[in-house]
Amino acid sequence: MKKARVLFVCLGNICRSPTAHGVFETLVAQHGLAGAIDVDSAGTAAYHVGNPPDSRATSAAAERGYQLDHLRARQAISHDFSEFTHILAMDEENLSNLKAIAPSDYAGHLGLFLDFAQCVEHEVPDPYYGGDAGFSHVLDLVENASMGLLLKLQQVPR
Ligand code: 4NP
Repeated sequence: MKKARVLFVCLGNICRSPTAHGVFETLVAQHGLAGAIDVDSAGTAAYHVGNPPDSRATSAAAERGYQLDHLRARQAISHDFSEFTHILAMDEENLSNLKAIAPSDYAGHLGLFLDFAQCVEHEVPDPYYGGDAGFSHVLDLVENASMGLLLKLQQVPR
């Protein structure tokens, strides 16, 4: 399998994309693919740069066995398009912000993370201003899409 470098992107990089980062990193390790797939995450906004994930995201993830404590928020930058083969946004707004900084000749995959999921939703909703149920729903969607993404990376030659 060809080396893949995956970047998950949301707005603040403290709720959705670190959740995707932790879940997908765990799945990759469980399948013995840590040497073949690199995982990172970033936010399109800079509000929370340097901060750990939101404690509600960390707790919800820990309940399902995923560790997020090692992650720190950073902002997505145009150089990321030189580094990552797959840049996956949590929603349309963040995808649009990424397209605005993407080089016109980017040859990787820039799209929505939930394109790899089997569900009716096409965006991972922002849980920041809501309750715990929102964080649990984020995990449901992220686990779903992570399985689809892993299968795609293993099956499709790039
Ligand atoms: P995230 O959630 O994009 O999933 O990390 C948010 C985090 C912070 C804010 C908004 C969304 N905020 O407005 O500070």
